Amino acid sequence: MVSKVYVTRNLPGTALGELGRHCHVTLNKKATPPSRKELLKNVSGKDAILCMLSDRIDREVMDAAPGLKIISSYSTGFEHIDVAEATRRGIHVTYTSDILAEATADLTFALILACARNVVAGDAMVRKGKWRVGWAPDLLLGQSVHGATFGIVGLGRIGSAVARRARGFDMKILYHNRGRNERAEAELGAQYRSLDGLLAESDFVSIHTAMNGASRQLINKDSLAKMKPTAFLINTARGAVVNERDLIAALKKKTIAGAGLDVFDKEPLPRASPLVRMKNVVLLPHIGSASRQTRSKMADVAVKSILDALSGKSLDPAFLVNPKS
Ligand code: DGY
Repeated sequence: MVSKVYVTRNLPGTALGELGRHCHVTLNKKATPPSRKELLKNVSGKDAILCMLSDRIDREVMDAAPGLKIISSYSTGFEHIDVAEATRRGIHVTYTSDILAEATADLTFALILACARNVVAGDAMVRKGKWRVGWAPDLLLGQSVHGATFGIVGLGRIGSAVARRARGFDMKILYHNRGRNERAEAELGAQYRSLDGLLAESDFVSIHTAMNGASRQLINKDSLAKMKPTAFLINTARGAVVNERDLIAALKKKTIAGAGLDVFDKEPLPRASPLVRMKNVVLLPHIGSASRQTRSKMADVAVKSILDALSGKSLDPAFLVNPKS
């Protein structure tokens, strides 16, 4: 019998075509996530779900799909999936692991450079006809990125990819993890600091920790108060790692210089958010992994996991979240 798969969004690349050659695919063709009702209806009778980080896959969804064998998430984060419940039911959970590390590291540097060197303000000035004096000694003066001190919170796969780029900018690299990463220290020249030490010393603080109980609101009023008034906070990880209200207060009071944000508490960021009106922030719509190459590689991996699971092959451990499933 042909296996049935529900795919919650259309994906770039050719992977969905490949999936369709082997399985019966039900695809949400809209540009928006399925509503809860649509999700529950469409998973019924399916052997596999290919979902996004915007789909909450919990016990109710698993109840609606009793024959489910695999939940393949088109993401590196998997906090939207009840992994313990899936494991209990023998359902494999897979993700795209470090496939997006390099693309996210590229975008982190885009935010660093945009914040520090007034890239967005400069572009707006030229377009709006406000560039009135040609070259000027003090036009849009920013902060140097090269040679600055760079603090990485979470030196995992993405954090290490960011550190490699920072080396090219001759930055002094500090990092904070729950445990020391001696290999990265040797390979990247990164120096371990306590979180407070890192916040106090860094010119740029970049968040790359996974979302979990320990990282929720890790950056809050107290931690922001430890940063230099000339420092920037960069977040390409998850909005909930930062207390957004505390960040807005720090940006308003200018106790930090600015922020570059690709992720938010609530996505899409509500138009009423004070962040939208602030000049000392650069805001992006969660596009850390959004290069054509990366997004289509992510699709290949997510589809391969499904095809392997449904044909009884063993799953690549690099992409399997719950080996005990
Ligand atoms: C993920 O996959 O978790 C990323 O945030 C998407 O870019």
